[in-house]
Amino acid sequence: MKTVVLAYSGGLDTSVCIPLLKERYDYDRVITVVADVGQPASEIDDATKRAETLADEHYTLDLKNEFVDDYLFPSIRANGLYEGYVLGTALARPLIAKKIVEVAKSEKADALAHGCTGKGNDQLRFEVVFRATDLDVVAPMRDMNLTREWEIDYASGRGIPVTVSRENIWSVDENLWSRSIEGGELENPYFIPPEEIYEWTRSPEDAPPDPEIIELTFLNGVPVSLNGTTMDGVSLIAELNRIGGAHGIGRSDNIEDRVLGLKAREIYEHPAATILLSAHRDLESLVLTRDELRFKAMVDAAWAELAYMGLVDDPLYTDLSAFIGETQKRVAGDVKLRLYRGSARVVARRSDFALYSEELVSFGESSIDQKDSEGFSKYHGFQARLVRKKMK
Ligand code: ARG
Repeated sequence: MKTVVLAYSGGLDTSVCIPLLKERYDYDRVITVVADVGQPASEIDDATKRAETLADEHYTLDLKNEFVDDYLFPSIRANGLYEGYVLGTALARPLIAKKIVEVAKSEKADALAHGCTGKGNDQLRFEVVFRATDLDVVAPMRDMNLTREWEIDYASGRGIPVTVSRENIWSVDENLWSRSIEGGELENPYFIPPEEIYEWTRSPEDAPPDPEIIELTFLNGVPVSLNGTTMDGVSLIAELNRIGGAHGIGRSDNIEDRVLGLKAREIYEHPAATILLSAHRDLESLVLTRDELRFKAMVDAAWAELAYMGLVDDPLYTDLSAFIGETQKRVAGDVKLRLYRGSARVVARRSDFALYSEELVSFGESSIDQKDSEGFSKYHGFQARLVRKKMK
């Protein structure tokens, strides 16, 4: 009796994997796991129902709180962006993989499976976690080089309900942090995305004509309240996705360098992430020293690269996170943003840890004696002046 645990999304690829694991790989028992990381509730329900008919055993796990606390909040603290991408898919994979391993251990399974192709990043993100165990790793999509057309035919032959058609070809990955849309004509980077691919965001030109001011409060580098109301992370992010989406905030269209080196055209929606990352970065500029800000930009970039690659168990990730965590103790305060037709602009900020002194910097009366700066001015650019003299 051989058992395999499959990371299941309810989509065509992973649905096809269930019979394939039995027919082509000789597993007797296929256990599916649906990870709820904030996909629409209807999608979780559909996936659960489908899994219950196709698999021998099924788990639907609500991972939303863990996703926010252990992956999204750290990403806010690290101003997490890879080539302009907010890392939604990238951050969810290690958590899902970890849960698959836990189920496999409790079910005494022999193998772990995923439905990723051999072209993307997700195979790497899953397997770096899977391969830390001594269980077998199976990737039917990658092994068999399957095409959509073949899968659709195979699925209809196995009684698997197919919701994607040959026309509806967008490949979507969605969680609390972002919605990613790939495939079909979008693969041509010169093709202008049609309005129909967007679900979270209104087009900026259809957004309300009046701007909206919102206030976010941060503590230890993470948001704790919205407009004065304390909220848990999951609710706060969901609410910001709703408000920001209505204002057309958080669409991006990136040419992205995948880990393997392939360039891909990637379209994302991420209203809450855009708002939170802008607010957080602004607050940091108020409370961190100039040297901390410069150094942290390098740490943040290294952090984002590891997160993109799914290397959250790398010792360097822990080291960088320790540095980031230390800096965030002072990242507390309030930020106001103006949401208007596709933009989220910080318009006000305050903090008890602000390194800003209105009294010192003001154009009005001040305790600074301006004459003190004269000596500094004399030495400013001193070496450059010497070089110019020598080169005459
Ligand atoms: N490019 C992104 C990443 O590697 C998102 C991929 C999402 N997949 C999808 N089928 N839309 O994290």
